[in-house]
Amino acid sequence: MQSLTNSWIVKYQLAATIFIIIALTKVTCFYFNFSTFRPENATHLILSKNSKIYLDAIQVTPDIRGIISDYSGRAFYNKPYTLWSKEKNQIASFNTTFVLNISPQTTPNGEGLAFILTSDTNVPENSEGQWLGIVNATSNGTSQAGIVAVEFDTRKSFSEDGPDNHVGININSINSIQQFSLTNTRVNLSSGQHVRFRIQYFNDRISVFGAMENATEESMETLLVSPPLNLSSYLEEVVYVGFSASTSNYTQLNCVRSWEFSGVNIGNDDDKSLLWLYITVPALIVIIIIGGMVIFFLCWKRKRYAESPEDAYPRIEDQIQHSSMAPKKFKLREITKATGGFILQNKLGQGGFGTVYKGILDNKEVAVKRVSKNSRQGKQEFVAEVTTIGSLHHRNLVKLTGWCYENRELLLVYEFMPKGSLDKYLFGDKNYGFGNDDNDLEEGYSLTLNWETRHSVIHGVAQALDYLHNGCEKRVLHRDIKASNIMLDSDYNAKLGDFGLARTIQQRNETHHSTKEIAGTPGYMAPETFLTGRATVETDVYAFGVLVLEVVCGKRPGKVHAQDDYKNSIVYWVWDLYGKGNVVGAVDERLKKEEIKEEEVECVLVLGLACCHPNPHQRPSMRTVLQVLNGEATPPEVPMERPAFMWPAMPPSFKEAEDSSLIQGTLTPFTEITGR
Ligand SMILES: *[C@@H]1O[C@H](CO)[C@@H](O)[C@H](O)[C@H]1NC(C)=O
Ligand SMILES: *[C@@H]1O[C@H](CO)[C@@H](O)[C@H](O)[C@H]1NC(C)=O
Ligand SMILES: *[C@@H]1O[C@H](CO)[C@@H](O)[C@H](O)[C@H]1NC(C)=O
Ligand SMILES: *[C@@H]1O[C@H](CO)[C@@H](O)[C@H](O)[C@H]1NC(C)=O
Ligand SMILES: *[C@@H]1O[C@H](CO)[C@@H](O)[C@H](O)[C@H]1NC(C)=O
Ligand SMILES: *[C@@H]1O[C@H](CO)[C@@H](O)[C@H](O)[C@H]1NC(C)=O
Repeated sequence: MQSLTNSWIVKYQLAATIFIIIALTKVTCFYFNFSTFRPENATHLILSKNSKIYLDAIQVTPDIRGIISDYSGRAFYNKPYTLWSKEKNQIASFNTTFVLNISPQTTPNGEGLAFILTSDTNVPENSEGQWLGIVNATSNGTSQAGIVAVEFDTRKSFSEDGPDNHVGININSINSIQQFSLTNTRVNLSSGQHVRFRIQYFNDRISVFGAMENATEESMETLLVSPPLNLSSYLEEVVYVGFSASTSNYTQLNCVRSWEFSGVNIGNDDDKSLLWLYITVPALIVIIIIGGMVIFFLCWKRKRYAESPEDAYPRIEDQIQHSSMAPKKFKLREITKATGGFILQNKLGQGGFGTVYKGILDNKEVAVKRVSKNSRQGKQEFVAEVTTIGSLHHRNLVKLTGWCYENRELLLVYEFMPKGSLDKYLFGDKNYGFGNDDNDLEEGYSLTLNWETRHSVIHGVAQALDYLHNGCEKRVLHRDIKASNIMLDSDYNAKLGDFGLARTIQQRNETHHSTKEIAGTPGYMAPETFLTGRATVETDVYAFGVLVLEVVCGKRPGKVHAQDDYKNSIVYWVWDLYGKGNVVGAVDERLKKEEIKEEEVECVLVLGLACCHPNPHQRPSMRTVLQVLNGEATPPEVPMERPAFMWPAMPPSFKEAEDSSLIQGTLTPFTEITGR
């Protein structure tokens, strides 16, 4: 995977580098290539009145309805070329290759064709005949002409002119500063054949090479090499490159068949390109770096996903679907919509493993728990919750109506609990759990429950726990009974919720856990938990006992993190009062004296203490608890003084649990267990 990642990056960077090189080459070069001329190419050319594209060539002096004599014409590439720059003290260099075809129309033929560099694209008046479209009688020999030409002259027009068929270098004049007769070469301008020329301007010299068309590039003859020529002395910085030609009463067709030009670009145009470059290159580098990082990140993530524990639960569906009462699988889209995109206003509370939002699904109010991503425990919780609570149905259990596992989002949909969680009624807490009622929220501390309701809550939770322990097909341990996990419906009926820790229990490899890893909430954990690290039926009963005391006394259980802390706990405190014969004195002061029945309160408190017996063997079962609450039995005997915790204290169900098949069928996917 790592090597794959690296090779990706290498490939990416290579491609990017090549791209930059291409970009750089492109901007530093002034280049064009007409392999032939089509009428459409006229848009890239500046053609004088007498010049046309016709028969795949630029006809610099065309045959217009049989009239061909006394013409001059010019044809330029339409973009100017910066030949030199004063500012940069630079002179450009270029190569240009073109194929000419000169077809004589008279004998002798005339007058000639030239490759020209000038800043003036207009054809000078009266530049036909011997002037080759380069200059006219007025401008000839003056700096006003502003032109440098390489002439391909086919006729000796005046005494100083070279022989028919010669090349020459002309500066502002029809007289060449240097000329070369083609008489003794294989190049014949007037043969009507294609002739290829190459002109190179480099190191202040103009060199002209030529050969008949079918000859190879290498076989080109060097026709002329000029003396050092500082073109900046004669031409403006920016020039147009092109051709001029003329006829007199001696005529010929002057055609340019193809043309390639490649020059170093130093121009102002270049400034823009460079500016472009200055912006583009850093931008590209940044893009490359970011792109590389993104690719790396994606690869890394993919790698992590591949190893992600998430994939340990690929078929949550398979685990759930076998139950006909299974919760519904929702689409992420539906739930996102239902909760308004998980907006803050819909947030009901924050739990250990996720955030709870209010939502409307199928016209019903729901509470959606969004399990925190990337939390391995979160995923375990999720699976635990869907597979336990999802298949359980009891009037005192919060109903899980749906779930969603998509795009790494783990979502649980519960029935909405309008009155929120029990804890806020007991201590005016702000930790509501699954649901709450906005109106109640406002009232805060003033919320309280009367004795009847408290009793019914205790009874409801007891029924739920009895169902979990003894009533359903497979025994389920809740492991996290506490006030904030008890929800109240609109009639204040208690419903046990948050099965995040349920069931992930009694795995063989869980024997020696340090206290910190113990599942559950401090204050609700039985003393033996700190030593065994085990959840049992008895530890659930213990937590229930603490809950009973809380509900009756309206006090927090006290944070018990270790054995010694029990002295500060609600259990110790109530037991102390019980020892003094004043257990009823523990009752919540907010309860009105007249509404409470002392015997009932005492009975419930003693039952709570019995559940909190330090010795798990001595704790009643939930069955017994229910019988006591129903008035079918008296509370178990409780010693006047809280007995000391004795170790080892093997709970009666411990052995049984270890061997039992207790939900093991559904537990198989979870081998590694960690508590909260
Ligand atoms: C000339 O025109 C032809 C046909 O439209 C086109 O394919 C070619 O690219 C043009 N050449 C240049 C240099 O613009
Ligand atoms: C012109 O051609 C010569 C020989 O092929 C080459 O060395 C030189 O770099 C070229 N110059 C430009 C500007 O293309
Ligand atoms: C030469 O050309 C220039 C510019 O086109 C023009 O002003 C001038 O009159 C011409 N001279 C002759 C003799 O035609
Ligand atoms: C060039 O070719 C033409 C036509 O073939 C011929 O008449 C002429 O004599 C040739 N000139 C030279 C210098 O070879
Ligand atoms: C060309 O001439 C200009 C002035 O006309 C001068 O500044 C420049 O240095 C010359 N370049 C070379 C290479 O001689
Ligand atoms: C072209 O004109 C010149 C004089 O201007 C004359 O001598 C010559 O005969 C003419 N040639 C033709 C083919 O008309």
